[in-house]
Amino acid sequence: MSSQSGDPRAKLKRQAAIEAASMVQEGMVVGLGSGSTSAYMIEELGRRWAEGLRFCAIPTSEHSAEQARAHGIKLVTFASHPQIDIDIDGADEVELGTLNLIKGLGGALFREKIVAAASRRFVVVVDESKLVEHLGHHVPVPVEVTTFGWESTARQIEALGARITQRLDRSGNLFVTDGGNMILDCHFGAITDSVALSRRLRAIVGVIETGLFIGRTSEVIVAAHDGLKHLEP
Ligand code: 5RP
Repeated sequence: MSSQSGDPRAKLKRQAAIEAASMVQEGMVVGLGSGSTSAYMIEELGRRWAEGLRFCAIPTSEHSAEQARAHGIKLVTFASHPQIDIDIDGADEVELGTLNLIKGLGGALFREKIVAAASRRFVVVVDESKLVEHLGHHVPVPVEVTTFGWESTARQIEALGARITQRLDRSGNLFVTDGGNMILDCHFGAITDSVALSRRLRAIVGVIETGLFIGRTSEVIVAAHDGLKHLEP
């Protein structure tokens, strides 16, 4: 992900990613997020690794693992490193005020949430277009569900007011997550109570995890046209 192809959003994503990568220090255990902004962050960490910085990392997707390996970054697992110092990841929407998030349009939400939950600091990197008053206004809530009985799970989610689409991959086949599950994109429109919605979704049998990240954010680094901003809850 080294080309920005003149895309102004890509330029902003890269700025936020580089700022976050500068927080990584010698000896840290680092969570590596997924998506295009995280890819810039991994690229920058790869550059710092080549300069001699030494740390180890737990990736949130096979894709991020592959990118990190290509840079020679040392990957570890929870077996040896159950506590992560800093996790850096992108987001699809950031709610101003609460800094709650929607994540998972890239399909890695389950591992992303496990890594975020195991981290002392969860730093979110976005360009300014991701900031919203209410989650769900522009993007659906991705929900990872078991393939067994998914039709029943989907009906129960619909009963909460969602219009559901099954996630497909670029070839039009059913999207399969790194954990072998499927994703339902749940369109709720603007969500006024994301805490309650998160609870209701997680209470449904068959739901593995949702893309609502509630109360997990330590800091958001926003790259805007007038500079970088650091938001804290
Ligand atoms: C993947 C994610 C990504 O962090 C999210 O989709 C943001 O992606 P990008 O940085 O490409 O805009 O949650 O599951």
